[in-house]
Amino acid sequence: AIERTLSIIKPNAVVEHNIGAIIHRLEQAGLKVVAMRMVKLTLEQAQGFYAEHDGKPFFEKLINFMTSAPVVTMVLEGDSAITAYREIAGATDPAEALCGTLRSDFGGDNVTFNAVHGSDSPESASREIAYFFADSEVNTY
Ligand code: CMP
Repeated sequence: AIERTLSIIKPNAVVEHNIGAIIHRLEQAGLKVVAMRMVKLTLEQAQGFYAEHDGKPFFEKLINFMTSAPVVTMVLEGDSAITAYREIAGATDPAEALCGTLRSDFGGDNVTFNAVHGSDSPESASREIAYFFADSEVNTY
Protein backbone atom coordinates (compact mmCIF):
# COMPACT_ATOMS: atom_id res chain seq x y z
CA ALA A 1 0.00 0.00 0.00
CA ILE A 2 1.07 3.59 -0.53
CA GLU A 3 2.38 5.06 2.75
CA ARG A 4 4.01 8.24 3.94
CA THR A 5 6.97 8.48 6.29
CA LEU A 6 8.86 11.34 7.91
CA SER A 7 12.55 11.61 7.11
CA ILE A 8 15.09 13.88 8.79
CA ILE A 9 18.53 14.45 7.35
CA LYS A 10 20.47 15.11 10.56
CA PRO A 11 23.03 17.86 11.31
CA ASN A 12 26.14 15.78 10.59
CA ALA A 13 24.91 14.84 7.11
CA VAL A 14 23.93 18.45 6.37
CA VAL A 15 27.28 19.84 7.58
CA GLU A 16 29.14 17.21 5.51
CA HIS A 17 27.25 18.21 2.33
CA ASN A 18 25.45 14.91 1.99
CA ILE A 19 21.89 16.25 1.56
CA GLY A 20 21.91 15.66 -2.18
CA ALA A 21 23.46 12.20 -2.01
CA ILE A 22 20.87 11.08 0.54
CA ILE A 23 17.89 12.47 -1.37
CA HIS A 24 19.28 10.95 -4.58
CA ARG A 25 19.27 7.46 -3.05
CA LEU A 26 15.76 7.88 -1.67
CA GLU A 27 14.41 9.03 -5.04
CA GLN A 28 16.27 6.28 -6.89
CA ALA A 29 14.58 3.77 -4.60
CA GLY A 30 11.19 5.03 -5.68
CA LEU A 31 10.34 7.23 -2.70
CA LYS A 32 8.72 10.51 -3.72
CA VAL A 33 9.50 13.75 -1.85
CA VAL A 34 6.07 15.27 -1.24
CA ALA A 35 7.12 17.88 1.37
CA MET A 36 10.51 19.30 2.37
CA ARG A 37 11.91 22.02 4.66
CA MET A 38 15.28 22.92 6.16
CA VAL A 39 15.03 24.00 9.79
CA LYS A 40 17.38 24.78 12.65
CA LEU A 41 15.49 23.02 15.43
CA THR A 42 14.96 24.84 18.71
CA LEU A 43 15.56 22.99 21.96
CA GLU A 44 11.79 22.80 22.46
CA GLN A 45 11.18 21.43 18.95
CA ALA A 46 13.85 18.73 19.37
CA GLN A 47 12.66 17.74 22.85
CA GLY A 48 9.05 17.56 21.66
CA PHE A 49 9.92 15.47 18.62
CA TYR A 50 11.92 12.98 20.71
CA ALA A 51 9.63 13.11 23.78
CA GLU A 52 9.43 9.29 23.90
CA HIS A 53 13.18 9.19 24.62
CA ASP A 54 13.06 11.78 27.43
CA GLY A 55 14.83 10.32 30.47
CA LYS A 56 16.96 7.86 28.50
CA PRO A 57 20.73 8.11 29.04
CA PHE A 58 21.34 9.35 25.48
CA PHE A 59 18.60 12.02 25.49
CA GLU A 60 20.68 15.11 26.29
CA LYS A 61 23.39 14.20 23.79
CA LEU A 62 20.72 13.55 21.14
CA ILE A 63 19.05 16.92 21.74
CA ASN A 64 22.38 18.76 21.72
CA PHE A 65 23.26 17.10 18.42
CA MET A 66 19.90 17.68 16.76
CA THR A 67 20.03 21.41 17.58
CA SER A 68 23.69 21.85 16.59
CA ALA A 69 23.06 22.72 12.91
CA PRO A 70 20.10 22.69 10.50
CA VAL A 71 18.27 19.53 9.54
CA VAL A 72 16.24 18.74 6.42
CA THR A 73 12.75 17.42 7.14
CA MET A 74 10.86 15.58 4.40
CA VAL A 75 7.68 13.64 3.87
CA LEU A 76 8.33 10.69 1.57
CA GLU A 77 5.60 8.76 -0.16
CA GLY A 78 5.69 5.38 -1.82
CA ASP A 79 4.79 1.71 -1.69
CA SER A 80 5.48 0.49 1.88
CA ALA A 81 7.38 3.74 2.40
CA ILE A 82 7.99 3.19 6.13
CA THR A 83 9.69 -0.18 5.70
CA ALA A 84 11.35 0.79 2.42
CA TYR A 85 12.92 3.85 4.05
CA ARG A 86 14.15 1.85 7.05
CA GLU A 87 15.87 -0.62 4.74
CA ILE A 88 17.63 2.16 2.84
CA ALA A 89 18.61 3.87 6.11
CA GLY A 90 20.02 0.74 7.75
CA ALA A 91 20.37 -0.11 11.44
CA THR A 92 20.17 2.72 13.99
CA ASP A 93 23.85 2.30 14.90
CA PRO A 94 26.02 3.13 11.86
CA ALA A 95 28.54 0.53 13.08
CA GLU A 96 25.88 -2.18 12.69
CA ALA A 97 24.29 -0.88 9.47
CA LEU A 98 24.88 -2.88 6.27
CA CYS A 99 27.29 -1.46 3.67
CA GLY A 100 25.46 0.70 1.17
CA THR A 101 22.88 1.94 3.66
CA LEU A 102 22.60 5.64 4.47
CA ARG A 103 23.71 5.21 8.06
CA SER A 104 26.68 3.05 7.13
CA ASP A 105 27.82 5.47 4.43
CA PHE A 106 26.94 8.84 5.97
CA GLY A 107 26.72 8.14 9.72
CA GLY A 108 29.40 9.15 12.16
CA ASP A 109 31.40 7.17 14.70
CA ASN A 110 28.60 7.00 17.26
CA VAL A 111 24.95 5.87 17.30
CA THR A 112 23.86 9.46 18.00
CA PHE A 113 25.40 10.75 14.75
CA ASN A 114 23.49 8.37 12.51
CA ALA A 115 22.81 10.76 9.59
CA VAL A 116 19.06 10.19 9.21
CA HIS A 117 15.86 9.61 11.11
CA GLY A 118 12.84 7.73 9.79
CA SER A 119 9.44 6.93 11.27
CA ASP A 120 9.25 3.41 12.73
CA SER A 121 5.50 2.72 12.37
CA PRO A 122 2.35 4.12 10.72
CA GLU A 123 1.39 5.67 14.08
CA SER A 124 4.71 7.45 14.54
CA ALA A 125 4.68 8.49 10.87
CA SER A 126 1.33 10.25 11.38
CA ARG A 127 2.54 12.00 14.52
CA GLU A 128 5.94 12.94 13.09
CA ILE A 129 4.56 14.24 9.76
CA ALA A 130 2.03 16.41 11.62
CA TYR A 131 4.81 17.64 13.93
CA PHE A 132 6.58 19.34 11.02
CA PHE A 133 4.03 19.80 8.23
CA ALA A 134 0.48 21.09 7.86
CA ASP A 135 -1.73 18.95 5.61
CA SER A 136 -1.67 21.77 3.06
CA GLU A 137 2.15 21.52 2.82
CA VAL A 138 2.09 17.87 1.76
CA ASN A 139 1.88 17.78 -2.00
CA THR A 140 0.32 15.41 -4.49
CA TYR A 141 1.99 14.90 -7.87
P1 CMP B 1 16.58 8.12 15.58
O1 CMP B 1 16.07 7.14 14.59
O2 CMP B 1 16.51 9.55 15.22
O3 CMP B 1 15.79 7.92 16.96
C1 CMP B 1 16.37 8.24 18.22
C2 CMP B 1 17.80 8.59 18.13
O4 CMP B 1 18.53 8.57 19.33
C3 CMP B 1 18.52 7.62 17.23
O5 CMP B 1 18.11 7.78 15.90
C4 CMP B 1 19.97 7.97 17.54
O6 CMP B 1 20.40 9.11 16.82
C5 CMP B 1 19.90 8.38 19.01
N1 CMP B 1 20.50 7.41 19.92
C6 CMP B 1 21.58 7.63 20.67
N2 CMP B 1 21.87 6.57 21.42
C7 CMP B 1 20.94 5.63 21.16
C8 CMP B 1 20.71 4.30 21.62
N3 CMP B 1 21.51 3.73 22.52
N4 CMP B 1 19.65 3.64 21.10
C9 CMP B 1 18.83 4.23 20.20
N5 CMP B 1 19.01 5.48 19.73
C10 CMP B 1 20.06 6.17 20.19
